[in-house]
Amino acid sequence: MRKKVTLITGASGEIGQALIKSLTKHGDMPIITLDIAPLPADMLHKVTALQGDIMDKALLSRLVSEYELDTIYHLAALLSTRSEFTPEAAHKVNVEGTLGLLNLAAEQSDWRHVPVKFIFPSSIAAYGLPDLETKAAYTRVREWEWNNPRTMYGCNKLYCEQLGIYYSKYYRQLAADLPVMLDFRCLRFPGLISAFTVPSGGTSDYGPEMLHYAAQNKPYACFVREDVRIPFMVMPDAVKSLLMLTKAPSDAIKHTVYNVTSFSLSAAEFRDWVIKFFPQAEITFEPDLQRQAIVDSWPADLDDSAARRNWTWQPDYDVNRSFAEYLVPSIRKMYQKK
Ligand SMILES: NC(=O)c1ccc[n+]([C@@H]2O[C@H](COP(=O)([O-])OP(=O)(O)OC[C@H]3O[C@@H](n4cnc5c(N)ncnc54)[C@H](O)[C@@H]3O)[C@@H](O)[C@H]2O)c1
Repeated sequence: MRKKVTLITGASGEIGQALIKSLTKHGDMPIITLDIAPLPADMLHKVTALQGDIMDKALLSRLVSEYELDTIYHLAALLSTRSEFTPEAAHKVNVEGTLGLLNLAAEQSDWRHVPVKFIFPSSIAAYGLPDLETKAAYTRVREWEWNNPRTMYGCNKLYCEQLGIYYSKYYRQLAADLPVMLDFRCLRFPGLISAFTVPSGGTSDYGPEMLHYAAQNKPYACFVREDVRIPFMVMPDAVKSLLMLTKAPSDAIKHTVYNVTSFSLSAAEFRDWVIKFFPQAEITFEPDLQRQAIVDSWPADLDDSAARRNWTWQPDYDVNRSFAEYLVPSIRKMYQKK
């Protein structure tokens, strides 16, 4: 008998580490992780950690020969800034990597006669508003609006959402016997902020970077204009939304792709919140026009009413609680220790 497990790809990253902590606190299913980067040593006792590439077919075959995959959190990806520098590599990891895992989950679903849950984090980058006037007019964007990404990362995410829909609804639709299809569920996240991992490679990272620099008494030059506004959410709420979506009963799920969010801030408002807690912070604005243009194409806020209605989603942390109770105390402690 193969052991039933939860698989987390990209587990060594920002979301992966937070998800492992939460799943091992509440969950009872063993966890296998797969990431090209090592997992921090203090997490190795919680999971079976495989260090490897999601593109490695031999490794994936070994994985399914040993384990029965119940749920897959497919987090491995190249993030937005890196993807712009290496678009073909981004396509390989973000699209071909996802396709390989969807294929593996499809085969496992049919073999088990039970759908594998495939949880996929998409992004605000799947949207693309054409100009600032449109962004000002359409503040709370709904899932089906403005699906015109202007980055490789956004294109990759939007296409993978469509692949997930295909594999969960239409896979082998011309075969004589329809297979048991996988259960694909997807969240479009806003910019995420973690108190524990220093951001790397996201185009929304200017917010968390302001905080981490302020806590270390380092000056920070923000790479977008003061008036730029996008939505944010802190990591505990990101993990909460992933777990809520995973657990939601199938009949509550009315869409495949859901927006989730908490608060929307301009870069200047973000700075003001940082200064409230770190009055000595030196934050200046030196917009990088190319990165700026990408953030300008993202919505000022997301409409997450479908998630709220269908599976009772709501964030625990509004902006005040995010800063006062989660971000500032943990970030302070992290840098005091060093
Ligand atoms: N952090 C955010 O603000 C945010 C927002 C929206 C969506 N997301 C999505 O959530 C997921 C996780 O994001 P994160 O912030 O934890 O990113 P991260 O960069 O911290 O983690 C991604 C992980 O994927 C791993 N990885 C990359 N290529 C791989 C490969 N070929 N094989 C195996 N592992 C590989 C990396 O080593 C890294 O540990 C990503 O899919 C990302 O697109 C993140």
